[in-house]
Amino acid sequence: MRTAYRTIRPLLFSLPAETAHGAVHRGLNAIQHTAIEDRLRDRLVVDDDRLAVEAFGQSFSNPVGVAAGFDKNAELPAILGALGFGHVEVGGVTARAQPGNPRPRMFRLVEDRAIVNRMGLNNEGAEAVGERLRTSPDPGIPVGVNVALSEATDADDAPEDYRYTYERVADVAEQGSAACRTSSGTVADYLAVNVSCPNSEGMRELQNRDALEAILGELVDAGASPLLVKLSPDLPGPAIEDALAVVDDFDLDGVIATNTTTDRPSGLKSPNRAETGGLSGKPIEARATEMVRFVAERTDVPVVGVGGVSDAAGAYAKIRAGASLVQLYTGLVYEGPTLARDINEGLLELLEEDGFESVEDAVGADL
Ligand SMILES: Cc1cc2nc3c(=O)[nH]c(=O)nc-3n(C[C@H](O)[C@H](O)[C@H](O)COP(=O)(O)O)c2cc1C
Repeated sequence: MRTAYRTIRPLLFSLPAETAHGAVHRGLNAIQHTAIEDRLRDRLVVDDDRLAVEAFGQSFSNPVGVAAGFDKNAELPAILGALGFGHVEVGGVTARAQPGNPRPRMFRLVEDRAIVNRMGLNNEGAEAVGERLRTSPDPGIPVGVNVALSEATDADDAPEDYRYTYERVADVAEQGSAACRTSSGTVADYLAVNVSCPNSEGMRELQNRDALEAILGELVDAGASPLLVKLSPDLPGPAIEDALAVVDDFDLDGVIATNTTTDRPSGLKSPNRAETGGLSGKPIEARATEMVRFVAERTDVPVVGVGGVSDAAGAYAKIRAGASLVQLYTGLVYEGPTLARDINEGLLELLEEDGFESVEDAVGADL
């Protein structure tokens, strides 16, 4: 299957990045809930207790998840589970449907194994995504929902905007509906507050202490739990410390580090480095790992490590730096559908080499 992806990748890469993503999305959707899904699950799910992670009250069968942005409208959790991922973070979801920025808005930097995107949070809106989550069959893996600020909402009204979205993706328990399908009894197994998207005007300013307190206070008041916050790799140290103080004050359940960066590290080769937007993939890997370490050294809550993961060594480095779970998006574009399996198998070898009994045993080993 890895070879099969190597064969079709040039074809996909001959298409504009978003067109290729759409084709992959439709393909995955077409085989979801079919016999092919079962066959993929048999081949790609690595079933080994040493990979299991307990974090923020949820059980993950392995630490490798799909990062926000890949499945914006929660259409693919089951098939992503069959590809061997241990969780998926759907979204970013906003209060109302929004179209995002004009196309083109997603660019491959092939020589750099990276992507620049300025999607601008295109999604079907909280009502539609909540309804889909409620009515879809159990995907068998935890599903987090990434909640973001609506384009049309002023920063001052952000707390109510986030609350509106939260209530639409997490209202099943309150309704006591028999359709409730996750272990926690709500539609979302966790809520990730996205205050770090670089493509939405003013959003990253919501990471400052006052704004974050207002948003998280509103969500805690609404009963959001488990509640995590996703941070930008562009935050300077003192600003991260401020954000972590708020995480502490509100007793949040975890921190996701990191989102994409507006920086362009020197050494990028692709001409697409000049495109405006957030950079992801290989060039942000080391920086994201450093941020995982910085956060893990300063907090007791689980850290989700994201940024440039594309192999077992990269996932393991984030785990040793303090990540309980890792997520990826860009790696999937370059490495293809066997990536979760390859990482999980590689992690088992690395754990064995270093004498760890489990992933949980290795979390923070380098701290
Ligand atoms: C096309 C694209 C869309 C994204 N959309 C979102 C989003 O809606 N919300 C979010 O929090 N992060 C979003 N991200 C960021 C990813 O979740 C992740 O934090 C980032 O890409 C770094 O991981 P990676 O190097 O494995 O891609 C997006 C990334 C890409 C490439």
